[in-house]
Amino acid sequence: MPTVLITGTSRGIGLEFVRQYAAEDWHVIAVARNPESDPRLREIKGDIDIRQADVTDHDVIDALAQELSSQAVDVLINNAGINGARETTLGNIDYEAWEKMFAVNVMAPMKLAESFVDHVVRSDGKTIICISSVVGSIARNDTGRCDYRASKTALNMVMRNLSADLRPQGIKVLSLHPGWVQTERNGPTAPMPLDESVKGMRNVIAGMKASDSGRFLNFKGEEYAW
Ligand SMILES: NC(=O)c1ccc[n+]([C@@H]2O[C@H](COP(=O)([O-])OP(=O)(O)OC[C@H]3O[C@@H](n4cnc5c(N)ncnc54)[C@H](OP(=O)(O)O)[C@@H]3O)[C@@H](O)[C@H]2O)c1
Repeated sequence: MPTVLITGTSRGIGLEFVRQYAAEDWHVIAVARNPESDPRLREIKGDIDIRQADVTDHDVIDALAQELSSQAVDVLINNAGINGARETTLGNIDYEAWEKMFAVNVMAPMKLAESFVDHVVRSDGKTIICISSVVGSIARNDTGRCDYRASKTALNMVMRNLSADLRPQGIKVLSLHPGWVQTERNGPTAPMPLDESVKGMRNVIAGMKASDSGRFLNFKGEEYAW
């Protein structure tokens, strides 16, 4: 069966990715910062290899890649992310928090791609996914949450660079917006059920062609302007 490596699997979208891929008998490498913090990940049935890693710790990511060096990774999903405060207004910007957000949302996906490129290239799937957000679209921007928006805009640039750099090796790279999803963080007022969002993203991933590499799509496969 194919292998998927997912980051940020302790809760929310990452946890649901684990649940759905495991239910379809994939080998799942579930990377979590604190795998012991919540029993739900451990309770999912299936072929799941839970690994502890803070995605901002580059030595740990390199060590993990080394430990898994005999494995192929068909799909690498950079899901771990920090959403930050809901309101960030002029005069009230937390620059230290913003730096940490960039380390998780922008640099970690690049580091994961860098460390696992050999695992991906030797797989059949050859796919790297960045879980982005529509709020990273400059064209659609109105106002607010400059820190989070800028991090997802930068993530899209990382994704686009990777798509060009890795095309000669046959690796496809994509930014995906999951919708505004009913995670614990957002609560039930968000319109998109968690299972539907993840099912939609998995369909987009499964149907991805080489010509889709470098695109910015949502969970329905619809394209967003940069
Ligand atoms: N939910 C939405 O509506 C929505 C919309 C657009 C985009 N997104 C994006 O989708 C992704 C998942 O969102 P979500 O709603 O599921 O978020 P969430 O519920 O807040 O979960 C975030 C996950 O990322 C992990 N994480 C954070 N920092 C980490 C680090 N340094 N190292 C390792 N793991 C780390 C968290 O682990 P801990 O439990 O250890 O903190 C958690 O598992 C994010 O990239 C987010 O920006 C979400």
